[in-house]
Amino acid sequence: MEKISIRNAEPGDIEKIMHIEHESFQEHIRESRDVFLDRISAFREGFLVMEICEDICGYISSEIWDYAENITATSFTLNHRISETHTTTGSELYISSIGILEKYRGKGYGNLLFTELSCRMIEKYVISSMILLVSASWDAARKIYEKNGFEEMCRIPGFFDKVNEGIVMRKHL
Ligand SMILES: CC(C)(COP(=O)(O)OP(=O)(O)OC[C@H]1O[C@@H](n2cnc3c(N)ncnc32)[C@H](O)[C@@H]1OP(=O)(O)O)[C@@H](O)C(=O)NCCC(=O)NCCS
Repeated sequence: MEKISIRNAEPGDIEKIMHIEHESFQEHIRESRDVFLDRISAFREGFLVMEICEDICGYISSEIWDYAENITATSFTLNHRISETHTTTGSELYISSIGILEKYRGKGYGNLLFTELSCRMIEKYVISSMILLVSASWDAARKIYEKNGFEEMCRIPGFFDKVNEGIVMRKHL
């Protein structure tokens, strides 16, 4: 049986995280090594990696925002620095990214990692809502979010590319 563990990311995990990022996203929407290292350094508790038999096969990153009823596209700018937006006294958890290595997809690990992060954050911080941005074409991700109670809030045309809209989804706890 596969031995699965989920732990906080460390700077030494960066090569594995970037490998997952490369498998998960097309070049024009990939985020940089420095952005991921910043996230680990600024909010390690909000950045988890999943290991299967001690091999990192997935990551999820997040930050905490001050709640704003109306959100604009600039809030989700790719490669934004976590220091510009993150505050542990905020009440909204923003899930900034998630990826699972291709060979491990479709086995429930993405959902497991997502629910584990949500539980840990709700336990530790005063979170009353969660928010994220997903492409209209990312079916597996959208299923995870819908299954976990997220609802579409608005769409951002052309966010990911000319064809695929960005869908902002939010869940109130
Ligand atoms: C999104 C991602 C993390 C999901 O991880 P995963 O381990 O494959 O997901 P799970 O196995 O937990 O499946 C989640 C749901 O999606 C469904 N699903 C899985 N692969 C699918 C696919 N290719 N098409 C449609 N649905 C799919 C599963 O059946 C499951 O739904 P169910 O619970 O109703 O059966 C992974 O596919 C990935 O890394 N994708 C590329 C990066 C990405 O899109 N990130 C999202 C950023 S917002």
